[in-house]
Amino acid sequence: MSDERRVALVSGAASGIGAAIAARLSRDGWDVLSVDVQGDVDVRSDLTTRAGNRDAVNAAEERFGRLDAVIANAGFQHVAPIEEFPEDRWDAIVALLLTSPFLLARYAWPHLVRSGSGRFVAIASVHGLVASPYKAAYVSAKHGVIGLVKTLALEGAEHGISATAVCPAYVRTPLIESQIADQAKAHGLPEERVLEEVILASQPVKRLIEPDEVASAVAYLLSPDGRAFTGAPLIMDQGWSAR
Ligand SMILES: NC(=O)c1ccc[n+]([C@@H]2O[C@H](COP(=O)([O-])OP(=O)(O)OC[C@H]3O[C@@H](n4cnc5c(N)ncnc54)[C@H](O)[C@@H]3O)[C@@H](O)[C@H]2O)c1
Repeated sequence: MSDERRVALVSGAASGIGAAIAARLSRDGWDVLSVDVQGDVDVRSDLTTRAGNRDAVNAAEERFGRLDAVIANAGFQHVAPIEEFPEDRWDAIVALLLTSPFLLARYAWPHLVRSGSGRFVAIASVHGLVASPYKAAYVSAKHGVIGLVKTLALEGAEHGISATAVCPAYVRTPLIESQIADQAKAHGLPEERVLEEVILASQPVKRLIEPDEVASAVAYLLSPDGRAFTGAPLIMDQGWSAR
């Protein structure tokens, strides 16, 4: 990295993958603005709202006077069959997983252009490429965000901005760990068997990805060596989509 400090905004940075990305980028010498609706972060913001996304970008400008990278990571899941899927949960998931990345890109764009080598990374999912039952909102929003980064890649090319979606399979975060415990109880199975036979059933490689592995991929995408990765998803799905 050059002598000049570079600034990254990380959404959903209080937990799991976002916390790992924020920590890794700080170690790599980035100034990080951590944003979340809860927890110990620089900016508390509800990113399902327009004001929340605008406040987050404004905070980067106010605190550091620049913004070079946006990592749109905040997310949550809701599992329900289509005929019972709560309409409010659909709205909230689309707002956070698809509209927030759009708004962050929209508001950050002038800063990314000024940066000269701006980076936009969405933490999508293997569910941006394949579906699973009972996850209508999550799968739809994750497919949508891959379309968004393709568009940003085309618009950003002339400004040196790259846009990428990282697509992991299951990652060991609080979100998944609580599912393992719940499913073990529901199926009457030990947790190791739930992991292999229920949660990781679609993955040829039967292990969870660690949050630090996703953070390493993001660090690479943000590095000068990562600049060729634009407009295409970076898939780290342990063989899932090869089936
Ligand atoms: N864990 C996995 O297996 C996995 C796999 C693929 C993709 N992902 C994606 O990675 C991202 C991070 O997931 P995670 O597993 O680290 O989950 P997590 O629950 O550990 O972290 C998500 C963070 O998002 C924040 N958040 C929720 N609603 C928000 C809102 N309205 N405004 C601002 N922040 C909000 C939460 O407070 C939390 O800190 C998500 O987009 C998720 O879809 C996760």
